[in-house]
Amino acid sequence: MDKIVIEGGRPLEGTVKISGAKNAILPVLAATLMTRGRNIIEGVPKVRDVATMIQLLKDLGAEVESYRNEKIVLDTSSANNPEAPYDLVSTMRASCLVLGPLLAKLGRARVSLPGGCAIGARPIDLHIKGLEAMGAKIWLEQGYIHGTADGLKGIQFYFDTVSVTGTANLMMAASLAEGETILENVAKEPEVVFLADILNQAGAKIEGQGTDMIIIQGVSSLKPIECRIFPDRIEAGTYMIAAAITQGEVLIENCIPQHVESIILKLQEAQVDVEVESSSIRVRGRSPLLAVNARTHPYPGFPTDIQAQFMALMTLARGQSIIMETVFENRFMHVAELKRMGANITLDGHTAVISGVQSLSSAPLMATDLRASASLVLAALAAKGQSVISRVYHIDRGYVNMEKKLSCLGARIQRVK
Ligand code: UD1
Repeated sequence: MDKIVIEGGRPLEGTVKISGAKNAILPVLAATLMTRGRNIIEGVPKVRDVATMIQLLKDLGAEVESYRNEKIVLDTSSANNPEAPYDLVSTMRASCLVLGPLLAKLGRARVSLPGGCAIGARPIDLHIKGLEAMGAKIWLEQGYIHGTADGLKGIQFYFDTVSVTGTANLMMAASLAEGETILENVAKEPEVVFLADILNQAGAKIEGQGTDMIIIQGVSSLKPIECRIFPDRIEAGTYMIAAAITQGEVLIENCIPQHVESIILKLQEAQVDVEVESSSIRVRGRSPLLAVNARTHPYPGFPTDIQAQFMALMTLARGQSIIMETVFENRFMHVAELKRMGANITLDGHTAVISGVQSLSSAPLMATDLRASASLVLAALAAKGQSVISRVYHIDRGYVNMEKKLSCLGARIQRVK
């Protein structure tokens, strides 16, 4: 298994280009199942979750006509297999995004119950409840969700919890359902807005994306999708924190500053110098870094996907910061590893109290989930000495060439087999 070796203590300097958003392309790939023909997607990030979703679509009968230079042409003319197998779904929770499209298009689905990051129970009860309300019959058998539908019907549905993939799944299914669907308390993430816009370009009738309520008028068919994926806001946020934690200066190119506004504001509150241009952000780390509090929320709040990386930064801030995780119930797996590097963190339920220390020390580290792994990389970049991070396949799920991008910024980082 690959490991990443980092010789920390060097400020990062230079320019990094952000890749396409993983969480934007996954639902778009799932949505191609509702079309028949050649779907063309550009700006594809080469990460393992995307490879998994493409493999899943191939298993479902789609054909990859070509895939090079971040552009994929995917023919869904024969995507008629309703079964998403365990070996793929178990490695990526977002595979459940095919459930809505399969039921809407084929009227049948057999999707393994998802796995993915070990960051809490992460049920998909709301996806299932919504699809059942639309008229699908759903039952669980031998670890699989089985579903049949003789045409889905429009519904009025309230999400008890704001769910990103839940919103995407029901929005996709409702696009091909009969009549009007009103989804309330929906996710407002840019990835959801993008999916709605792309579906509209394909012939769907969706309004209200980006607000708490989405209204969908069902249509009978959708044209193939053509789009370019926008830059990944979590990757951008991670490199912003990398600049800050190493006291470096990095220009983050190809990003949408509005998507990372809550991160910019938190960094500025911590006295990090952030300059925003139309599609780039320059971050200069400054000393001393001030301790600030953060609380995760659905978009436009501070993202849970940046909580671990921000905590790594706060371990080196002057004073005490309190970080609250409100989206997931168990997303502090990085804490034990950061403590092994000398961080002073105490956990109480959903709250972490971090007392800043002067420096972190290098250590052998274990990646546990995607974003926790990123936080360990950041901490190792700041720590003096050599850290070896194992189980880095978690990082490969969501970051394009992380060690290459960091070494272009001057980090001493290498992957060893
Ligand atoms: C998506 C993102 C993930 C991010 C998360 C929160 C993708 C592919 N992944 O994950 O990177 O961390 O949003 O921003 O876009 N919940 C239920 N029942 C459900 C669905 C969700 O209780 O049916 C709960 C979850 O357990 C969690 C909360 O709702 O506590 C939010 O989860 P959700 O927004 O669904 O996360 P994902 O869509 O899986």
